[in-house]
Amino acid sequence: MVCLVTLLSFLKLTLSDFEISGGYWVVLQPSIGISAMHMQVLNNDKVIIFDRTDMGPSNISLPNNYCRKNDDVLQLDCTAHSVLYDIASNTFRPLTVQTDTWCSSGAVDRDGTLVQTGGYHNGERIIRAFTPCFDNNCDWVELTKHLWDRRWYASNQILPDNRIIIVGGRKVFTYEFYPKNESLASSYYLPFLFETRDPGEENNLYPFLHLLPDGNLFIFANKRSILFDYVKSKIVKEFPVITGDDKRNYPSTGSSVLLPLRLTGRNADNETTMLPEAEVMVCGGAPAGAFIKADKEQVYVQASTSCGRLKVTDPKPVWSMELMPMPRVMTDMLLLPTGDVILINGAANGTAGWEDAVNPNLNPVLYLPEEEPTRRFVVLKPSTIPRMYHSTAALLPDGRILVGGSNPHRRYNFTAYPYATELSLEAFLPHYLAPQKAHLRPSILSVESMDRTVSYKQVFSITFVLALFRPSGAISVTLITPSFTTHSFAMNQRMLVLNVINVAQLSTFAYKVLVSGPTSATVAPPGFYMMFVVHAGTPSQGVWIKVM
Ligand SMILES: *[C@@H]1O[C@H](CO)[C@@H](O)[C@H](O)[C@H]1NC(C)=O
Ligand SMILES: *[C@@H]1O[C@H](CO)[C@@H](O)[C@H](O)[C@H]1NC(C)=O
Ligand SMILES: *[C@@H]1O[C@H](CO)[C@@H](O)[C@H](O)[C@H]1NC(C)=O
Ligand SMILES: *[C@@H]1O[C@H](CO)[C@@H](O)[C@H](O)[C@H]1NC(C)=O
Ligand SMILES: *[C@@H]1O[C@H](CO)[C@@H](O)[C@H](O)[C@H]1NC(C)=O
Repeated sequence: MVCLVTLLSFLKLTLSDFEISGGYWVVLQPSIGISAMHMQVLNNDKVIIFDRTDMGPSNISLPNNYCRKNDDVLQLDCTAHSVLYDIASNTFRPLTVQTDTWCSSGAVDRDGTLVQTGGYHNGERIIRAFTPCFDNNCDWVELTKHLWDRRWYASNQILPDNRIIIVGGRKVFTYEFYPKNESLASSYYLPFLFETRDPGEENNLYPFLHLLPDGNLFIFANKRSILFDYVKSKIVKEFPVITGDDKRNYPSTGSSVLLPLRLTGRNADNETTMLPEAEVMVCGGAPAGAFIKADKEQVYVQASTSCGRLKVTDPKPVWSMELMPMPRVMTDMLLLPTGDVILINGAANGTAGWEDAVNPNLNPVLYLPEEEPTRRFVVLKPSTIPRMYHSTAALLPDGRILVGGSNPHRRYNFTAYPYATELSLEAFLPHYLAPQKAHLRPSILSVESMDRTVSYKQVFSITFVLALFRPSGAISVTLITPSFTTHSFAMNQRMLVLNVINVAQLSTFAYKVLVSGPTSATVAPPGFYMMFVVHAGTPSQGVWIKVM
């Protein structure tokens, strides 16, 4: 046992040890009837997908011959604008959204219910809930309580106490919480949201939010970022302005991730003790004026080519800038079970907005945060389907990336050329799902924790099998939240690399890895996470666990 641990720590894989295949693209459905503008993976292995309700008929009927009144385009709309996709069977069914969800936001609460907020017109102050079910009878529910302010292009973050903070929106410079505190008179004003707005262009919508391990909220808008104490409604500090001229938020839509939180340090009881360091990464966007040029003159300037990393837990953090292999705007950034980042979807010219981009980024890019600076970006295989404005991507528990949507038009237009409203659903299979990696892939047999629920600092074990006589690389255990993705920002996306205490071989192919659960609710807000065992850079299928 001791030998094995020693062996594993010496066998840390580097990129040169394996050839990265460029991945694979698969079309899952030629049409799901709607364009996937928003996506949320749920803990019952279904994905809720929706766009907007005010753009005419979609290509799928509402269930039970139902028709909805009061649509902006149609007097009576008998088509659906939301579907529920079942990952295992690759099937989908229509859902009923009553009010307009256009450019809205959401977060999953600790019980696994999607709480979706805002939208446009009759939907701008609506709160909707979708609770996963196993009998195929569940649908959207509109809550009777409304938001304080209209939330169109706002961002959400789930908080340690299971409240959701909703920040910003078009011409709304406030934040508020769900559930609402009824004894308050209004939302909270946040001047930072007003100050970061560019006249005529905005460039600060869908701000990037990341809950940091110390419990404060990181908020990035346009080029500026702050550490915000939402309990006291106080800016703790302002970080340096990101280097360069590029704007990073809608419509100069870049993306951002909180890089994996690596848990270290343990006490005599093997409990994780340290708060992890936290590093934020921001990629892509567009230079000032790009939106106006695209919108008014049909001139599509080159998108941003840069990414910046900021170690926000450093006492004096500075942005470290890097160049992507190509310009990118409207690119989704997703954390992979391996701890790497994938940049997928988007365009090389223009900005977000109707008819405002050209030159789609068909190639995803892999980013290896731990590699040597010159070897961090790897260009992957291209798709054939442009995924620009109003496209999305989400990590599935099986390690694939679900990709859908793209509609740069005011309405559905299934015949527009060259960028028709895209109804198809694809999957991208990253390099670790290549057949050459099959022999490295662990399979989780059991999680030794009651009801697959893990409490803070709990020491628990996971039994897995490997089709090898001994491991050929490091073993790690990672947790990833299912994110709410829209407009290239995966809200609530979070990854933890658990503290591995010990790996023991149980039999020829079976192993038991002992880990300590996340430190606290500020490090990992309570709720459902996909858990992966990663061996030699190859993740297992994820299993759902609940952290609380
Ligand atoms: C719309 O659906 C019909 C079948 O219901 C199909 O024949 C047609 O190709 C679909 N159109 C698009 C654009 O997907
Ligand atoms: C609601 O707001 C009131 C007034 O500020 C405050 O005293 C109370 O603690 C708040 N309640 C909650 C549950 O936050
Ligand atoms: C802590 O982990 C070690 C293995 O590294 C094990 O021998 C010991 O029993 C564990 N202690 C507790 C309290 O779990
Ligand atoms: C994209 O931007 C580059 C650099 O500004 C420019 O040379 C090229 O013409 C643009 N492409 C299109 C299709 O507008
Ligand atoms: C769809 O787009 C094409 C241009 O590619 C345009 O000619 C057509 O009028 C549009 N249809 C609708 C319904 O807007």
